[in-house]
Amino acid sequence: MVIANLVFASIENDLSILNQNLQNMIGARHPVLYAAAEHLFTAGGKRLRPAIVLLCAKASSMTNNISPQQRRLAEITEIIHTASLVHDDVLDDCSTRRGIQTVHSVFSTKIAILAGDFLFAQSSWYLANLDNLQVVKVISKVITDFAEGEVRQGFVRFDLQFSVEDYIAKSFYKTGSLIAASCQGSAMLSTVNANVTNEFYMYGRYMGLAFQIIDDILDIVGSSNDLGKPAGSDLKQGNLTAPVLFSLPEETGLINLIGEEFSDADDIDRALHLIRRGSGIQQAKDLASEYLQAAISCLEAVEESVSVNILKKLTLLVLERVS
Ligand code: IPE
Ligand code: IPE
Ligand code: MG
Ligand code: MG
Repeated sequence: MVIANLVFASIENDLSILNQNLQNMIGARHPVLYAAAEHLFTAGGKRLRPAIVLLCAKASSMTNNISPQQRRLAEITEIIHTASLVHDDVLDDCSTRRGIQTVHSVFSTKIAILAGDFLFAQSSWYLANLDNLQVVKVISKVITDFAEGEVRQGFVRFDLQFSVEDYIAKSFYKTGSLIAASCQGSAMLSTVNANVTNEFYMYGRYMGLAFQIIDDILDIVGSSNDLGKPAGSDLKQGNLTAPVLFSLPEETGLINLIGEEFSDADDIDRALHLIRRGSGIQQAKDLASEYLQAAISCLEAVEESVSVNILKKLTLLVLERVS
């Protein structure tokens, strides 16, 4: 928590401006679309991605200032992320998010698809209005990557051939791409040289991969109350995540349960028990730690500053979620 205070205190005002702007940015002609889109913004969320974008802005600028364009990029990033969650919850058949009911369970699946599309469309409009073609190119690719990641995941449910390498590739598309591109975009808006913007990209990529691994561990060890979304749901969906994949060689029982797609009512609990007693969770944590170390190394190329140090400390915050 001490780290969270340090990280968020340094950009507290910037994040409250961001929250106000997010409310104002989402305008829709139809009230249902507005209500659906606003739903998740009001509920909040950790605002991790915009925090990273704002810190990258400070870290990459000579003056430690955040430009209006970089603020806008942080807002765009959160809108894109929220849109992806609205669609993800439809795909995952998930009933709660950010501690409240998901858009598709309050309204309908059709409305949730439209609301997600609407948020993606709004983000594209604001992105275009940054008037920076390089940044538009980098960020717009992310939306394609989400679809790629979700489709890849959808095709390998309960697939015991799915490997850790496949999982990492899929996680890049689902989670790494947005964080990577928005870190790079933020640095591009500071007009630092291409080598340095690439290091920001790689920092975001490693952070994103580690964040997804830790989130996947939380699905196995967390409680729904703490998460604001149901626990154990990845497993139920046949979504084989890092802690599960690392447990497979140790637990033949787990292989059988997955092979039979958890046909008995208490099979999920059995599987959770098998995963929790072995070393799979620790192996997944170790992999996340390696990525976080790699993220820190990327910042060695950036001139030292308070904000660069906070970006490094942010890696500990990712790990702290499961400590
Ligand atoms: C959830 O992201 C989706 C993943 C990539 C695991 P967050 O955990 O950052 O969600 P919010 O924004 O805080 O709700
Ligand atoms: C990550 O998907 C969300 C996206 C990047 C679209 P998950 O399904 O792993 O995330 P949660 O667990 O629903 O937050
Ligand atoms: Mg999900
Ligand atoms: Mg999902």
